[in-house]
Amino acid sequence: MNTLKTERIDDIMVVKFNRPQALNAMNAEMTGEIVELFDELAKDDSVRGIIVTGEGRAFMAGADITEMAAWDAEGGREFARFSNYALSKIADISKPVIYAVNGYALGGGLELSLCGDWRIAADNAIFASPEVSLGIIPSGGGTQRLARLIGSGRAKELIFTARKITAEEAEKIGLVNKVVPADKLMDEAIASMKMALSNSSTAIRLAKEVIDSGLDMDLNNGIKAEINAVGMAFANEEKTEGVSAFLEKRKPNFNNR
Ligand code: COA
Repeated sequence: MNTLKTERIDDIMVVKFNRPQALNAMNAEMTGEIVELFDELAKDDSVRGIIVTGEGRAFMAGADITEMAAWDAEGGREFARFSNYALSKIADISKPVIYAVNGYALGGGLELSLCGDWRIAADNAIFASPEVSLGIIPSGGGTQRLARLIGSGRAKELIFTARKITAEEAEKIGLVNKVVPADKLMDEAIASMKMALSNSSTAIRLAKEVIDSGLDMDLNNGIKAEINAVGMAFANEEKTEGVSAFLEKRKPNFNNR
C-alpha cells in the first residue's frame, strides 16, 4: 500500500495514514486503500482490535484539496459517496477501533475519527471542520456523526465557524475521551485496547452492534435489539467461560477468536 502503513502488535493492528508530505490528506488512492485494508481486517480473525493514527506531524489534514478543483456537482457527489463508502468500512467493522489522534485532525480527518469507537488525543492535537471556509461542506458523514456525538448546537458552531479547537476543548465537549502527552499517545491507545481485549471478543462485538444500531432507533426498539443480543451472548461459549471463571474464582480464559 502506498498511502497506509500497518504494524502488528500481538492481536492489535495499528493502521497509519502515510502521506506525511501532504499532512496525510486523503486522496482517491488513500480512500481506495482504506476500503481494501478494512475489508481484509474485517475477515482476519487474528486481528481483534484496530488502532488508527497518522504518520508524521498530523493525523490527517482532511481531504486532498488539490483533487477538488476540477469537480462539478456530480464530481462532488461521487467524492462524497466514495468517502462515505470507505468510512463505512471502518464504522461497520465488528471489532473495537480506537483513534490515536496526533496533530491536525481537520475536515475528513475529524470525520474519520468519528467512525471509530473512541478517540484518544495527543495534547498537540487540533480539530476543526474547515469545509465551509472552502465553500463546501463536510462530505464524510461529518454533518451527521458530529451532531450525534457532541450535539447539534456544538456541531453547528464548529462547522459554521470552521474554528480550530485544542485537544483540551475537544475533551471538554466529548469529542475525545482522553488527552495525553504526545509521546505517550500510542502507549495509552495500546493499553486502552488491551484492556478491552482482555474481555470476551464475542460480547464486545454484540455490544458494539447493539450500541451502534441503537443510535438509529427509538428507545423501545433499541431495548428490543439489546434483548436479542443478550440471547446471543448467553448462547456463546465465552459466556460459559466467563461465568464459570467467576464462580471458580479464577481469571477467564476466553478463546477470543
Ligand atoms: N490537501 C492537500 N494538501 C494539503 C492539505 C490538504 N487538505 N493539507 C495540507 N496539505 C499540504 C500543503 O499543501 C503542503 O504541501 P506543500 O509542502 O507541497 O506546499 C503540506 O501539506 C504541508 O502543509 P502546510 O500548509 O505547509 O503546513 P502548515 O503547518 O503551515 O499548515 C494546516 C497546516 C493543516 C493548517 C494547513 O495545511 C491547512 O490548512 N490545510 C488544509 C486543511 C483543510 O482545509 N482541510 C479540509 C479539506 S476539505
